[in-house]
Amino acid sequence: MPKTPTPPGAEGSLPAPDAPVASREGGADTVAARAGELWQAREKPIGSPDLDWFRAEKELAKTAPSPLMTANWRGQLRVASIVTEAPGVKTFHLVPTSSDRFLPFTFVPGQFLNVAFWIGGARMNRSYSISSSPTQREYVDLTVRREPRGAVSRHIDDLVKVGELIEAGGPAGKFTFTGTEADSIVLLSGGVGITPMMSIARYLTAQLWGGEIFFIYTCRTPADFIFANELAMLERRNPKLLVAVTISKPEGTDWKGSRGRITREFLTQAVPGLASRRIHVCGPPSFMDTVRTILTDLGVPSDSLKTEAFGAVKPAPAADRTTAKPSAPATGPLVTFSTNNKSAKIHADQTILELSEELSIGIEFSCRVGTCGVCKVKMTSGEVEMAVQDALDDDDKKNGTILACQAKPKGDVAVEA
Ligand SMILES: Cc1cc2nc3c(=O)[nH]c(=O)nc-3n(C[C@H](O)[C@H](O)[C@H](O)COP(=O)(O)OP(=O)(O)OC[C@H]3O[C@@H](n4cnc5c(N)ncnc54)[C@H](O)[C@@H]3O)c2cc1C
Ligand code: FES
Repeated sequence: MPKTPTPPGAEGSLPAPDAPVASREGGADTVAARAGELWQAREKPIGSPDLDWFRAEKELAKTAPSPLMTANWRGQLRVASIVTEAPGVKTFHLVPTSSDRFLPFTFVPGQFLNVAFWIGGARMNRSYSISSSPTQREYVDLTVRREPRGAVSRHIDDLVKVGELIEAGGPAGKFTFTGTEADSIVLLSGGVGITPMMSIARYLTAQLWGGEIFFIYTCRTPADFIFANELAMLERRNPKLLVAVTISKPEGTDWKGSRGRITREFLTQAVPGLASRRIHVCGPPSFMDTVRTILTDLGVPSDSLKTEAFGAVKPAPAADRTTAKPSAPATGPLVTFSTNNKSAKIHADQTILELSEELSIGIEFSCRVGTCGVCKVKMTSGEVEMAVQDALDDDDKKNGTILACQAKPKGDVAVEA
């Protein structure tokens, strides 16, 4: 019997356990489509490859060194392999650059790295969630979807090759789950928002975590179903992992599962007692808005709901803007960047990050909307207001850490940058 709760529209739709899997050769479309088919045909006895994988994972976890501190690592990682997961989606398998076997940092499932590239003369930073499990100490996987007009994701998709060194920093982020925070978890994602959820599901499965994991996913077509193959394998190995997928545009495909977007009915049927569980949500803004509305209507308390939006990125300044000064003279409070020994008055509505760019201070950033935490700096005097502080924890707030991308001084301030 299938152990996945049957979502609406999927009744009786799973193929028989031994249903043939169509064999197709070709590029990303066919690789992903085959993964989708395998996922639909996933109710098979546990085979030896799964067990071998599982033993290897446990052995590796035993031989790994004890955890390092995770904060503030910055350096390079080497691209060891690149795997096409779906059309326009690739996983970059990153390893240490030195002869060290293990990564120079540890992370918690759900965290991300900040990567930097020089593109068209400008240094551009972006955040990418780690999709691999922290039990794997020898590598991290970043899974990147190509945005049609995106500066960095297109660069990564087109130009990053095996053997290349990539500048990265982190890990960062509080969108994490290790199994100690609740006794069950709902991982609800859309599109490439699946990446942090995979890290969590892989980790909890490797740890033999005893809680239920409701893995709920939506994407446009079966071919876009990232990690379909591996989810099928994890689901076979982990009786506590319950996967429900709905495909919003299945027309013209052989998808036999649930169809349509995420709805209240789909969610409540897929996850019994949904409103009383811890829920993590990640995906594009429209998906996040829909899900947030449904969950709020269902009475999910805000402290049970953890979200991470991938799409909320404010454009980074163009290369020529980083040094250009606004024409009118600044009359706002004085901001001192003590490490660089530079001070300047700030313009009305300007953030400390924007002023730092005018002065070529070089504060790192990624999202520019207060969620990633890459732009954290220590404020040594003064006071600021910040519209969004999602990336700050209680310790940050106590020790004067601010988000430069959000911080607008209320009076003269000094920051360590
Ligand atoms: C914490 C965090 C984790 C993330 N994890 C992942 C992950 O695991 N995988 C992943 O793929 N992404 C992830 N992202 C998103 C990622 O950081 C980037 O935002 C994404 O890759 C787009 O960057 P880009 O430089 O390609 O696009 P940008 O150049 O920043 O453009 C952003 C958006 O605007 C659109 N756009 C750009 N220029 C124009 C224009 N002229 N007109 C109209 N539209 C335009 C682009 O199509 C794109 O959708 C994450 C984001 C955060 C904050
Ligand atoms: S750049 Fe992401 S929080 Fe400031």
